[in-house]
Parts: sequence; C-alpha cells; structure tokens
Amino acid sequence: MKMMLAAALHVQRRRCEPAMPQTAPAHPVKISKNDDEALARVFMGYTVSATVWLIFATFVGILLAYKFGAPEFGPGEWLTFGRLRPIHTNGTFYGWASIALVGLAYYVAARSSRTPLFSARLAWLGLWLFNIAAFVGTVALFLGYNAGDLEYREWPWPVRLIFLAALLVTAWNLLATVAQRSTDDIYLSNWYTMGGVLWTCIIAVVAILPWYQYGLGQVAVSGFYMHNAVGMWFTPLALGIFYYALPKLLSRPIYSYALGIFAFWTNLVFYPIIGAHHFLFSPLPWWLQTTAIVFSVAMLVPVLGGSANFLLTMRGSYGELRHSYPLMFIFVGVLGYLLGSTQGTFEAFRSLQAIWHLTNYTVGHSHLTMYGFVNFAIWGGVYALLPAATGKSPSQLGLALHFWMALVGVVIYVLSLSIGGTIQGLDWEHGLPFIQSVIDMQPFYVWRGVGGVLMFLSHLVFAWNIWGMTVGIRLRQTAPEQVAARGRTA
Ligand code: HEM
Ligand code: HEM
Repeated sequence: MKMMLAAALHVQRRRCEPAMPQTAPAHPVKISKNDDEALARVFMGYTVSATVWLIFATFVGILLAYKFGAPEFGPGEWLTFGRLRPIHTNGTFYGWASIALVGLAYYVAARSSRTPLFSARLAWLGLWLFNIAAFVGTVALFLGYNAGDLEYREWPWPVRLIFLAALLVTAWNLLATVAQRSTDDIYLSNWYTMGGVLWTCIIAVVAILPWYQYGLGQVAVSGFYMHNAVGMWFTPLALGIFYYALPKLLSRPIYSYALGIFAFWTNLVFYPIIGAHHFLFSPLPWWLQTTAIVFSVAMLVPVLGGSANFLLTMRGSYGELRHSYPLMFIFVGVLGYLLGSTQGTFEAFRSLQAIWHLTNYTVGHSHLTMYGFVNFAIWGGVYALLPAATGKSPSQLGLALHFWMALVGVVIYVLSLSIGGTIQGLDWEHGLPFIQSVIDMQPFYVWRGVGGVLMFLSHLVFAWNIWGMTVGIRLRQTAPEQVAARGRTA
C-alpha cells in the first residue's frame, strides 16, 4: 500500500514538473558555445538534406499519380511505374522521413539531457551513410536493379547494409549522448527515439539475413518488416518529437509522464506481432493471421493512451493554435496518428479486408499516417526547434502557405482514395468486370492528383522556409523565448 502511494505521488509529482526540470542539473556537464553551434549545424545538415529528398521523392509521387490517368505519360523504361514506385516509397521513407527524424532526435536528445552531442563527427558520418544509401539505392532502382517485390526493401542488399551502418552509427551516438546526460531521468522523448533506433537495427538485420527468405518465410518476414518499419521506426521517433515539442511550445509539462511510458511499453508488446495483417487470406497460417488481428485491436491501447496524453496536454490551450503554426502542425500530426492508427485497426478485420485489401483505400491509409501523422510531426518539430537552434525564423506567410496547402492537399488525397478505394473494392466484391473498377476510379485519381500537386507545392514552400531558418538572410533575430508559440524552446 505504502509503495502504491509512493508510486502515485511520484507520478503526480511528475505531472506537476515543468516541461523540462528547471532545477540545477543533477550531474552538471559544461556546454560550450562551440557545442551549441556544432549541434545546430548537425540539426541543420540533417534537415536540409532531408528536404532535398522530400522534393525529389514527392516529385516522383506526382509522376506516379499522373500515370494513373495517362499511363503513356513518361515513356521509356526509366520512367515505368514499376521503377518509379519504389523510388518514391524508399525516397520518402529513407531519404526524407528517416533523415529528418534522426536530425530532430539528436537535437532533442542533447537538449533534454542538457549535454552536448556525444560526437558531431559520428552524426555527420551517419548523415553521409544515409545519403549514400539513398542515392545509390535510387540509382539502382532507376537502372532496374532491385531485390524483387519486397516492399520497402527493394534496394539491393549491399545498399541496405549501408543503411544499416547508418542506423548503427546513429544508435551509438544517440545512446552515448543520453548516457552522458546531466539530468537524473531519461526524458520521455528519448525513450521513444532510442527505442526506435534500437528496434530498427534489429528489424533491418532480420530483413537482410537470407536463410529464411524463401516461400512463406519470405511473406512472413515481409509483413514483419513492412509494419515494423512504420510502427517501430517512424512512429516512435515522431511520438518522441511530440513529447518534446508540445510541452516546449505550450510551456507546460506533458499531461502524464506515466501514461507516456505505459504507451511506450504497450507499443513494444503489441506492434511487432501485427505484420501478418498485410497478408490476410494468404497461405500464412490462419492462427498467425488471427493473432495479427487481435494485436491490431490491442494497438488501440497505446494509440488512444498516447493521443489522449497529447490532447490533454493541450487542454485549455486550443486558443493558442491560432497564434502558432508549429502548434497547428503538431495538432494535425496528433490527429493523423489517432485517426490513421484507429483506421488501421478497423482495416485489419477480415470482413473489411475483404473489401479494402489491394484497393486504393490502403494507399489512402498510408498517406493519412505517413503524411498526416509523420510528416506533420516532423514539420511541427522543425518549426518549433530549428529557429531556436539557428536564431532565424521563417516568415508567417511561408508558414501559412505550407500549412494550408499541405493540409488541404492531404485531405483531398486521403478522402478521394478512401471513397474511390471503397467503390473499387465493392465493384470487385460484386463480381463486376475489372475494367468497371478502373472506370469508377478515374475521377478519384484526378482528385488525388489535385491533392498531390498542392502537397508538392507546400514542400517547395517548406524548402523556402528552411532556407529562411538556415542559410537565408536573418529575417528577424529570434530570442528563444519568442520562438513559435510564445512558449519556451530549448
Ligand atoms: C497502430 C495501428 C495500425 C494498424 C492496426 C494498422 C493496420 C494496417 C493494415 C491492416 C494495413 C494493410 C492494409 C491492406 O493491405 O489492405 C496497413 C497498411 C499500411 N499501414 Fe497501417 N496500421 C496502423 C498504423 C499505421 C501507422 C502509424 C503508419 C505509419 C506511420 C502506418 C502505415 C501503413 C502503411 C505505409 C501501409 C501500407 C503497407 C503496404 O504497402 O501494403 N500504419 N495498416
Ligand atoms: C506530393 C505528395 C505525394 C504524392 C503525389 C504521392 C503519390 C503516391 C502514389 C501515386 C503512390 C502509388 C500508389 C499506388 O501504388 O497505387 C504512392 C505510394 C506511396 N507513398 Fe506517396 N505520395 C506523396 C507523398 C508521400 C510521402 C511524403 C510519403 C511518406 C512520408 C509517402 C509514402 C508513400 C507510401 C508508403 C506509398 C505506398 C502505399 C501503399 O502501398 O499502400 N508518399 N504515393
């Protein structure tokens, strides 16, 4: 009883603490101006590099979208759909989102641990390795060299080894940074980012080892890899950003530290087992498929717990949204996480898979989650934290244009594919000729293209904003206190 009371008081105390402990650090570590500058340069380097990949990979996304309406557009083997699609998916996953998230994770780790980065050199080495993998992988795919139809791991295996090396370097550097922290506790964000990097090293090894990669073994590994790439890599890193940026922007602690830890562990218990929901009705053992469905439902626990934590942290501050685009990006990201993941749970039911599997509905889900959740989390984090690192901030016009074009674009994209994909699935279910489903999808493909163009234009504005926050002319000197949402930043 005594212990329970002590635990409850501990949790209560945590909730009352400010965003980051404001008391003197437990084990003071001296942070020099050079350390600050080195960290800012690393953060900038990762963000700029990621932005280049975002523009390239989503330009390819636009080409893909238009090929649905005009298949002859972009002739020649280089521009076939089969080559462009993995270039788009791998480019957005590993060139854009991974690099941007690692840059943010380094910044958050050093700031929340009140310590310099363990090694700026290792961080730059990691950035080179990520870029070499993404570049060589893209060229290989363009030239027609690939590992077959292994989704999200189409790069030839030596290229995936380079990516694995980048992950290992990142894991080492991130853990060593947190290990030399001057605070007693490991801040919540770092649980998520360190967990994400470590899990992904394991997942990447499993995906490369050849011994069980044949027959049904390969199918099982594909499900495991695909879903863990999104669930144990992008998801925890993006959630880690929420846990740091949200309290900073609002100048208040996260609603519940304990709930954050609970969501972390339940995510770890439930996520790795749900990969087989990508292959329902396949020859994979029926019990494995059923287990994947059960755990897809269990995923509601961390998803609802985590989302409630963010929304309750914002409770009473929704008025702030009108004054802060970084906060708006994060708010949309939280909604994207909540809606997209809950949608995923429903998608996993056999009755609904029977309609939606292999239709464009799934592509809508992919973009609601990877775009509506992960992209908005990255943008919110970059706008909240990069100005504090560089002392330069983007213009309000740039922020507004980016936010509204990306939001309207992704809403059009997801709605059109969700409605069109459902019609497509029902056509198949009713046994209509296949061509009927193609004809029925036509208007929705056009709307997807419209949404896609808006999204792409918003990325160009993002690049302009990055210019403003890094190499551009000092638009306005930003005191850390003034950044973003009138809240304190690191
Ligand atoms: C946590 C709850 C989630 C569940 C239960 C879930 C469930 C599903 C299901 C059942 C599919 C397969 C659809 C099909 O093939 O017909 C799917 C696909 C997908 N999901 Fe989720 N999802 C969840 C969260 C997320 C999140 C957070 C992300 C991104 C960060 C994501 C990204 C994707 C992607 C990219 C695909 C497409 C995979 C492919 O290429 O086939 N999901 N999801
Ligand atoms: C301008 C913005 C974008 C456009 C126009 C676009 C377009 C497309 C198109 C046309 C496909 C092929 C769908 C199919 O095979 O039927 C696709 C697939 C995909 N894209 Fe994008 N995309 C964009 C941005 C992004 C971003 C930023 C991400 C990730 C961060 C992303 C992740 C994916 C994924 C995971 C798939 C595979 C979907 C699945 O199999 O379910 N896309 N995209």
